[in-house]
This record gives sequence, structure tokens and C-alpha cells, in this order.
Amino acid sequence: MNKYLKLDEWNIIEEGFNQENVPSSESIFSIGNGRMGQRANFEENYSGKTLQGNYIAGVYFPDKTKVGWWKNGYPEYFAKVLNAANWIGIQVNMNDEALDLAKNKVTNFKRVLNMREGHLSRYFTATLNNGCELTVDTCRFLSIVDDNLGAIRYKIKVNNLGGKITLTPYVDADVVNEDSNYDEKFWEPITEKAEGTLALVTAKTKKTGFVVTTAMHYEVWVNGKKTEPTAKPATREKYAACSLTLNVNPGDEIILYKFATNISSFNHPIEKLESVALAELDKAQKKHFEQMLTEQKAAWETKWEESDISIEGDVAAQQAIRFNIFQLNQTYTGEDERLNIGPKGFTGEKYGGSTYWDTEAYCLPFYLATADKHVARNLLLYRYKQLDKAIENATKLGFNHGAALFPMVTMNGEECHNEWEITFEEIHRNGAIAHAVYNYIRYTNDLNYLADYGLELLIAISRFWAQRITYSETLKKYVMLGVTGPNEYENNVDNNWYTNTIATWCLNYTREVVDYVQKNHTEKFLSLSQKISFNAEVETLKWKTIAENMHFPESKELGIFLQQDNYLNKEQILVKDLDPSQRPINQNWSWDRILRSCFIKQADTLQGIYLFEEEYDVDTIERNFNFYEARTVHESSLSPCVHTVLAARLNKMELAYELYLRTSRLDLDDYNCEVGEGLHITSMAGTWMSVVQGFGGLRVYNHKIYLNPRIPKAWDSYSFKIRFRGSVLKINALKNKVEVHNYSNNELKLVIFEKEYTLNGNNKLTVEI
Ligand code: BGC
Repeated sequence: MNKYLKLDEWNIIEEGFNQENVPSSESIFSIGNGRMGQRANFEENYSGKTLQGNYIAGVYFPDKTKVGWWKNGYPEYFAKVLNAANWIGIQVNMNDEALDLAKNKVTNFKRVLNMREGHLSRYFTATLNNGCELTVDTCRFLSIVDDNLGAIRYKIKVNNLGGKITLTPYVDADVVNEDSNYDEKFWEPITEKAEGTLALVTAKTKKTGFVVTTAMHYEVWVNGKKTEPTAKPATREKYAACSLTLNVNPGDEIILYKFATNISSFNHPIEKLESVALAELDKAQKKHFEQMLTEQKAAWETKWEESDISIEGDVAAQQAIRFNIFQLNQTYTGEDERLNIGPKGFTGEKYGGSTYWDTEAYCLPFYLATADKHVARNLLLYRYKQLDKAIENATKLGFNHGAALFPMVTMNGEECHNEWEITFEEIHRNGAIAHAVYNYIRYTNDLNYLADYGLELLIAISRFWAQRITYSETLKKYVMLGVTGPNEYENNVDNNWYTNTIATWCLNYTREVVDYVQKNHTEKFLSLSQKISFNAEVETLKWKTIAENMHFPESKELGIFLQQDNYLNKEQILVKDLDPSQRPINQNWSWDRILRSCFIKQADTLQGIYLFEEEYDVDTIERNFNFYEARTVHESSLSPCVHTVLAARLNKMELAYELYLRTSRLDLDDYNCEVGEGLHITSMAGTWMSVVQGFGGLRVYNHKIYLNPRIPKAWDSYSFKIRFRGSVLKINALKNKVEVHNYSNNELKLVIFEKEYTLNGNNKLTVEI
């Protein structure tokens, strides 16, 4: 853990400069706008430890897989979102010495991420080795209104000695990915130009051929007056800059405004990149920094209006949930069905910025409840559009007849992962993708989606399950052999309870949807059946037989489901008895020892109980919870949120609160000692689930909303908003009552503490506790 940030409801604040914290703060103070994002690197030179990171959504590189012994079925490459051109760079030299916080004496350092308004600022005084003292005050943001643009206001006050100050704003595509498998540079140069107040670089990615133009325009003001000093252009391969020198006296204040844009061939024809970039810069210049910032604030106000969770009485909890929501909204805006949410978003390189099951299992509920329906629909369409590749992927592995196995990790539908030995048997991901369709439908009631896209995907996934099972003559049951469940601390196990559960559920749900589409969209059904050679009667009968005869490991004696066959053969030690110096075990134990131990990396059996909670009585949930929580080390960021929801359901409020803090402040307090690598973006949606589904008790069954609000001791009240089938509701939970506001014209049926109410449009309901 590393707690160095100040508590504040709307801001993340770092005070004082500690070089050790630079990589962590670079992650935590990251900014993004869905189209691009960046780590909070400094504008000026920094020679200390840093991970430079600028990322453009959709622009990736297929880095050749690095494994020891190649086996059939290994993915050819590990896709990674590329570290792209640095557009923020402003080199500052005072009397020929470079400003560099790793080398200068730094005082009054303060960095603030203003989440309410969507900008990042930094303030410090630096004394250079030549004695010159400069006070720097910066503000920058990536516009969510003009999402091709970023803007910086870089203010320098000359404090003691006068002389010559040289400012060099630049764009630089000569960058590397720290996680490159073969230390290769991924960008090839195309053009570099610098003239007057403009500089641009166009570069192309190797193999994938994405072309990106990164361009900048700058302006300089001295003591409140715009000046036009002659700038010296400078270009070299993949780099373009304008350098200008000013004579300054003590007390002078210089402001450099820098506007920049990234235009990529992901969205524009290659021949237009430069002209689009220039037009974008022209727009920025006309609006200028202040207007762009005003628009940014207004746009963020709207985002918060829709998705804020407010918590009274607990600043740490409040700051944390806002941080999670802010980062999610910076990462994915849902306007482009080709994009998805990487586990680290735009804040680091780990996980390659690719798509994991995290999207469906964790992120979808957040976007379903806080954004317009098309946002969640685009996440679904992303997978639907990759169905052909999923079928191809399954075919390569020996499946047939249109069976689909979606990748565990992907950019474009192809499987691509470095850590293939662990993840290739994580076929449970197929289940999460099917479950997302169900979740979307129960939430939106967009039944046409099933006829147009959903059914086709569900059939392909069910065909996979039907071929992946084996009939065991010994058990007289269907078994699922050689899988890895969500708990990656067990590999190649038989009958992972979660996988068998979600597969069975999927077979049953697909049958339901077949029935629905056949009856209600007959023509579409017939044409789909023809397209994919679907024999409804034969295939659904097979699925029914499998679902009715699936093997689920359990311990009758303990009254629990078993994570997998023979789980109880393991030595049963509890997490509380682990020597704290051995944790996290993934940083202290051999892989062999981890695999032999009973310790669970992340929710697995409990993940299944969480998804299908309505199937189990409270005692069953509680027995399983007690058993598995005691053995779970939560070394995946995706774990504590699921446990929070269940702990709250079981009224174990102290534990739920502790787990909530762990999930929500995971990055702010660096629980896993690795925040420097990037933020855990996908688990941030889990944090949202912890409050809304955990404490708020939100569920959707039978076309109705269910609420069961509980309040942690430390909180006076909390409130959140959700969208549901065209309505917007605000739920305000206090110690003694729950208020539900209906901000739409629609009448809604809802169940609060097990009692049904009808809430008219534009009305409020109060239920006393
Ligand atoms: C987890 C996976 C997850 C991945 C990306 C891993 O540590 O075990 O479940 O998909 O991280 O977040």
C-alpha cells in the first residue's frame, strides 16, 4: 500500500514532490476522452523513472508472441495498444539549463486531477543548478467535446534571475512500448514538418499500417500580451518542434498555450489526415484554451449529472467512487462499436489495451445503468461483429458446425495473448459474452436485438458448449474437462463449477431465445436457420439433455459447491493464517506452489453465485461465501467487488465496507503495489457494482427493479442514478428511509425491501426503514 494522496470529494491531490511516486502518479492522474488518453507525464523533460504513455483508441500492433516451446493453437501475436506520439512535450531551458524535476530542487509541488471539470493541473517551484528559480503552473485536458483535441496552458514565472528562456514545444513519435516483446520500435516515419507556430509528425505502425498525424499549434504570451517571437523550426525522424527564445527579467510571466491533435487512419482516409489535423488545430485556435475549458467543464457536468454517486459522511469512499466513475467515463464513451475497454484503459501498457471478459462481466452493468442504451448495445455489437473470427478460432481448435469460442484477449476478434498457458482454457469467457446479451435484454427490453444479432451469437456459443463437454460413463453425467475458471491460480482442472454453471445456463437461455425468436420473428428465424444450418429441434434437444445432466461438483457434508473436482484434496489453509510477509502470493511464491495451494486469486464459485443469485437460497449463499471468502486472496482487481455485493446481500456490512474500500481505493492507495503499471479500469466498474448492486441492492428480475438499500456505518447517506427502460431514477438511501425519484414520464413498478410499489412519472416515493 502507498497512501500519499489527499482526501477530497472531487479532486485527486498530490502535495510535495517525491520521485518515488512519479510512476504511480503518472497512472493515477491519467486523462482521456474515449478517443485517446495519456499518462500524467510531465510536459517538460524528466530524466527520472517514468513510463511515457500516449494512446489512441483502436491503434495497435500485433507483437509476435514470445513463448518457449511453440504448440499448436498458440496465438500468433500479442496485440498491444501502442504508445503513440508524445504531444504534450515542452522543453524549457533557462540560461541554457533544462528544467528537469529529477535534477532540480523542487518546492511547493502540487498536482490536482479535477474530476468534476475534467482537467489536470500542476504547480511547483524549481531551482535549477544555475540558481534560476522558476514557478510553473500548468493545466491540461483532453477535450470530450472536441475529442480529437488536447490543450495545455503552461505558465512560467521567472522568480529571481533574468536571462534567456528557451521554450521548445514539440511532437515526438520516436517512442517505444516498454512491454515490446523484442524491443522493437513500432512506428515508422512518414513526414515531419515545422514552421511558424505549427509542427506535425505523421508516422505509420509496422504490420498493421495505421497512419497517425500528430500536430500542434502554440501561442506565447508575455506579461499578459501575446507575442510573436521568431521560432526556430527543428525536425528529425518522427520529431518536429519549434524553438523560441525570450529575454526575461525577474517577475516576468510567460504563458505558452499548446493545442494538439491526433488524427488516425482508424477514422479518416490516409490522404486527409494532415488536412483534418490542421482543421482541428484551427478550431482549437479559434475557441482557444478558455472556451475549450468552459465547454469541457459543461460536458463533464452533464456526465456527472448522469453517473455520479454521492456519499455523505465518508470522504475516502466518496473520492474513490468518483475516481472510478471518472476513469471509466474517460476510457469509453460508447460511440464507436469497434472500440472496447482494455483492463488498463489509456493508463498503461499491461494487458495490451485489449478486450477481455472484463467488459461483459464487469463493465456492461455500469454502462447499462448510467448511459444511453446505444452505449451498451455497441459493446454487444463489438462481439457480434467478431463472431466469424470466434467461429474461426473454435475451428482451429477442432470444433465444427459453427461453434464459436470468443478470444480471451483480443483487438480485432483474433485471439492474442502472451500468457497463453494460463488463459487458453478460460473458456468461461464465452459464458460472460452470452450473459451480457441476457443482461442487456433484461435491462433494456430491446427484444429486436435478439432476432437481429443475439440469437446468432447465442447459438454459436451453445454449439461450442455442446461439443466441449464429455459424457462420463462413470458419473453418468456430462463433464467439462481441462478448463481454467476465473480463478487463474488453478489451471487445467475438471468441472470448474462456475464454467459448468454458466455453460448450462447458456444452453437453457439459448433455448428460450430460440423459442422466442421462432414465435415472434419467424421470418428472421428461418433466414438465420438457413444461414447457419440450424436444426432447432435436434440441437435444442441436445442442449436440453446436456443441461439436465451436467455434473456440478459439491460437498454435501459442507453444503457447498466445489470450485472444481477434488478441490477438497488440497490442504485447506485460510487466508487469515497466511504469513502477511508472503502476500501477495503471486509476488512471493513459485507458480508451482500457488497451483498446489487452495488459495483463490479471484471470485470463482462466488462469481457464479453472484450472477445467478436468484437460484440459491440465502443459507446456500452464506455457506459458500464463508467458505470461499476465507480462501480468497483477491490478487485480481476483479475479485473484491463480487465479494462486496454478496457480503452486502448477506448483511455482513463491516466486511462489505472493508471490501468496498479495497476495490474502490485499489489504485488510489495502491493495495497491490503496482499502480505504476496503470490503473485497473475494468475493475472500476466493479466498484460501481459494489455500491449500486451491493449496498443499494439493485437487481432486475421479471421486468422490474428490485432495491434493498443498506448503508455502511460510516456513511450518513448515499445516492445514485440509474437508467431503466427509458426512465431515469435517483435512489437516495438514508439511515432511516429510502427515496426514489422518477425523473421520467413513465410509470414504474419496483420492489423495495420485498414490497411492490408503483411509482408514477415525475414522482417521488419514500419508504421508511
Ligand atoms: C484476471 C482476469 C482478467 C485479467 C484482465 C487477470 O489478472 O485474472 O480475470 O480478465 O486480469 O483484467
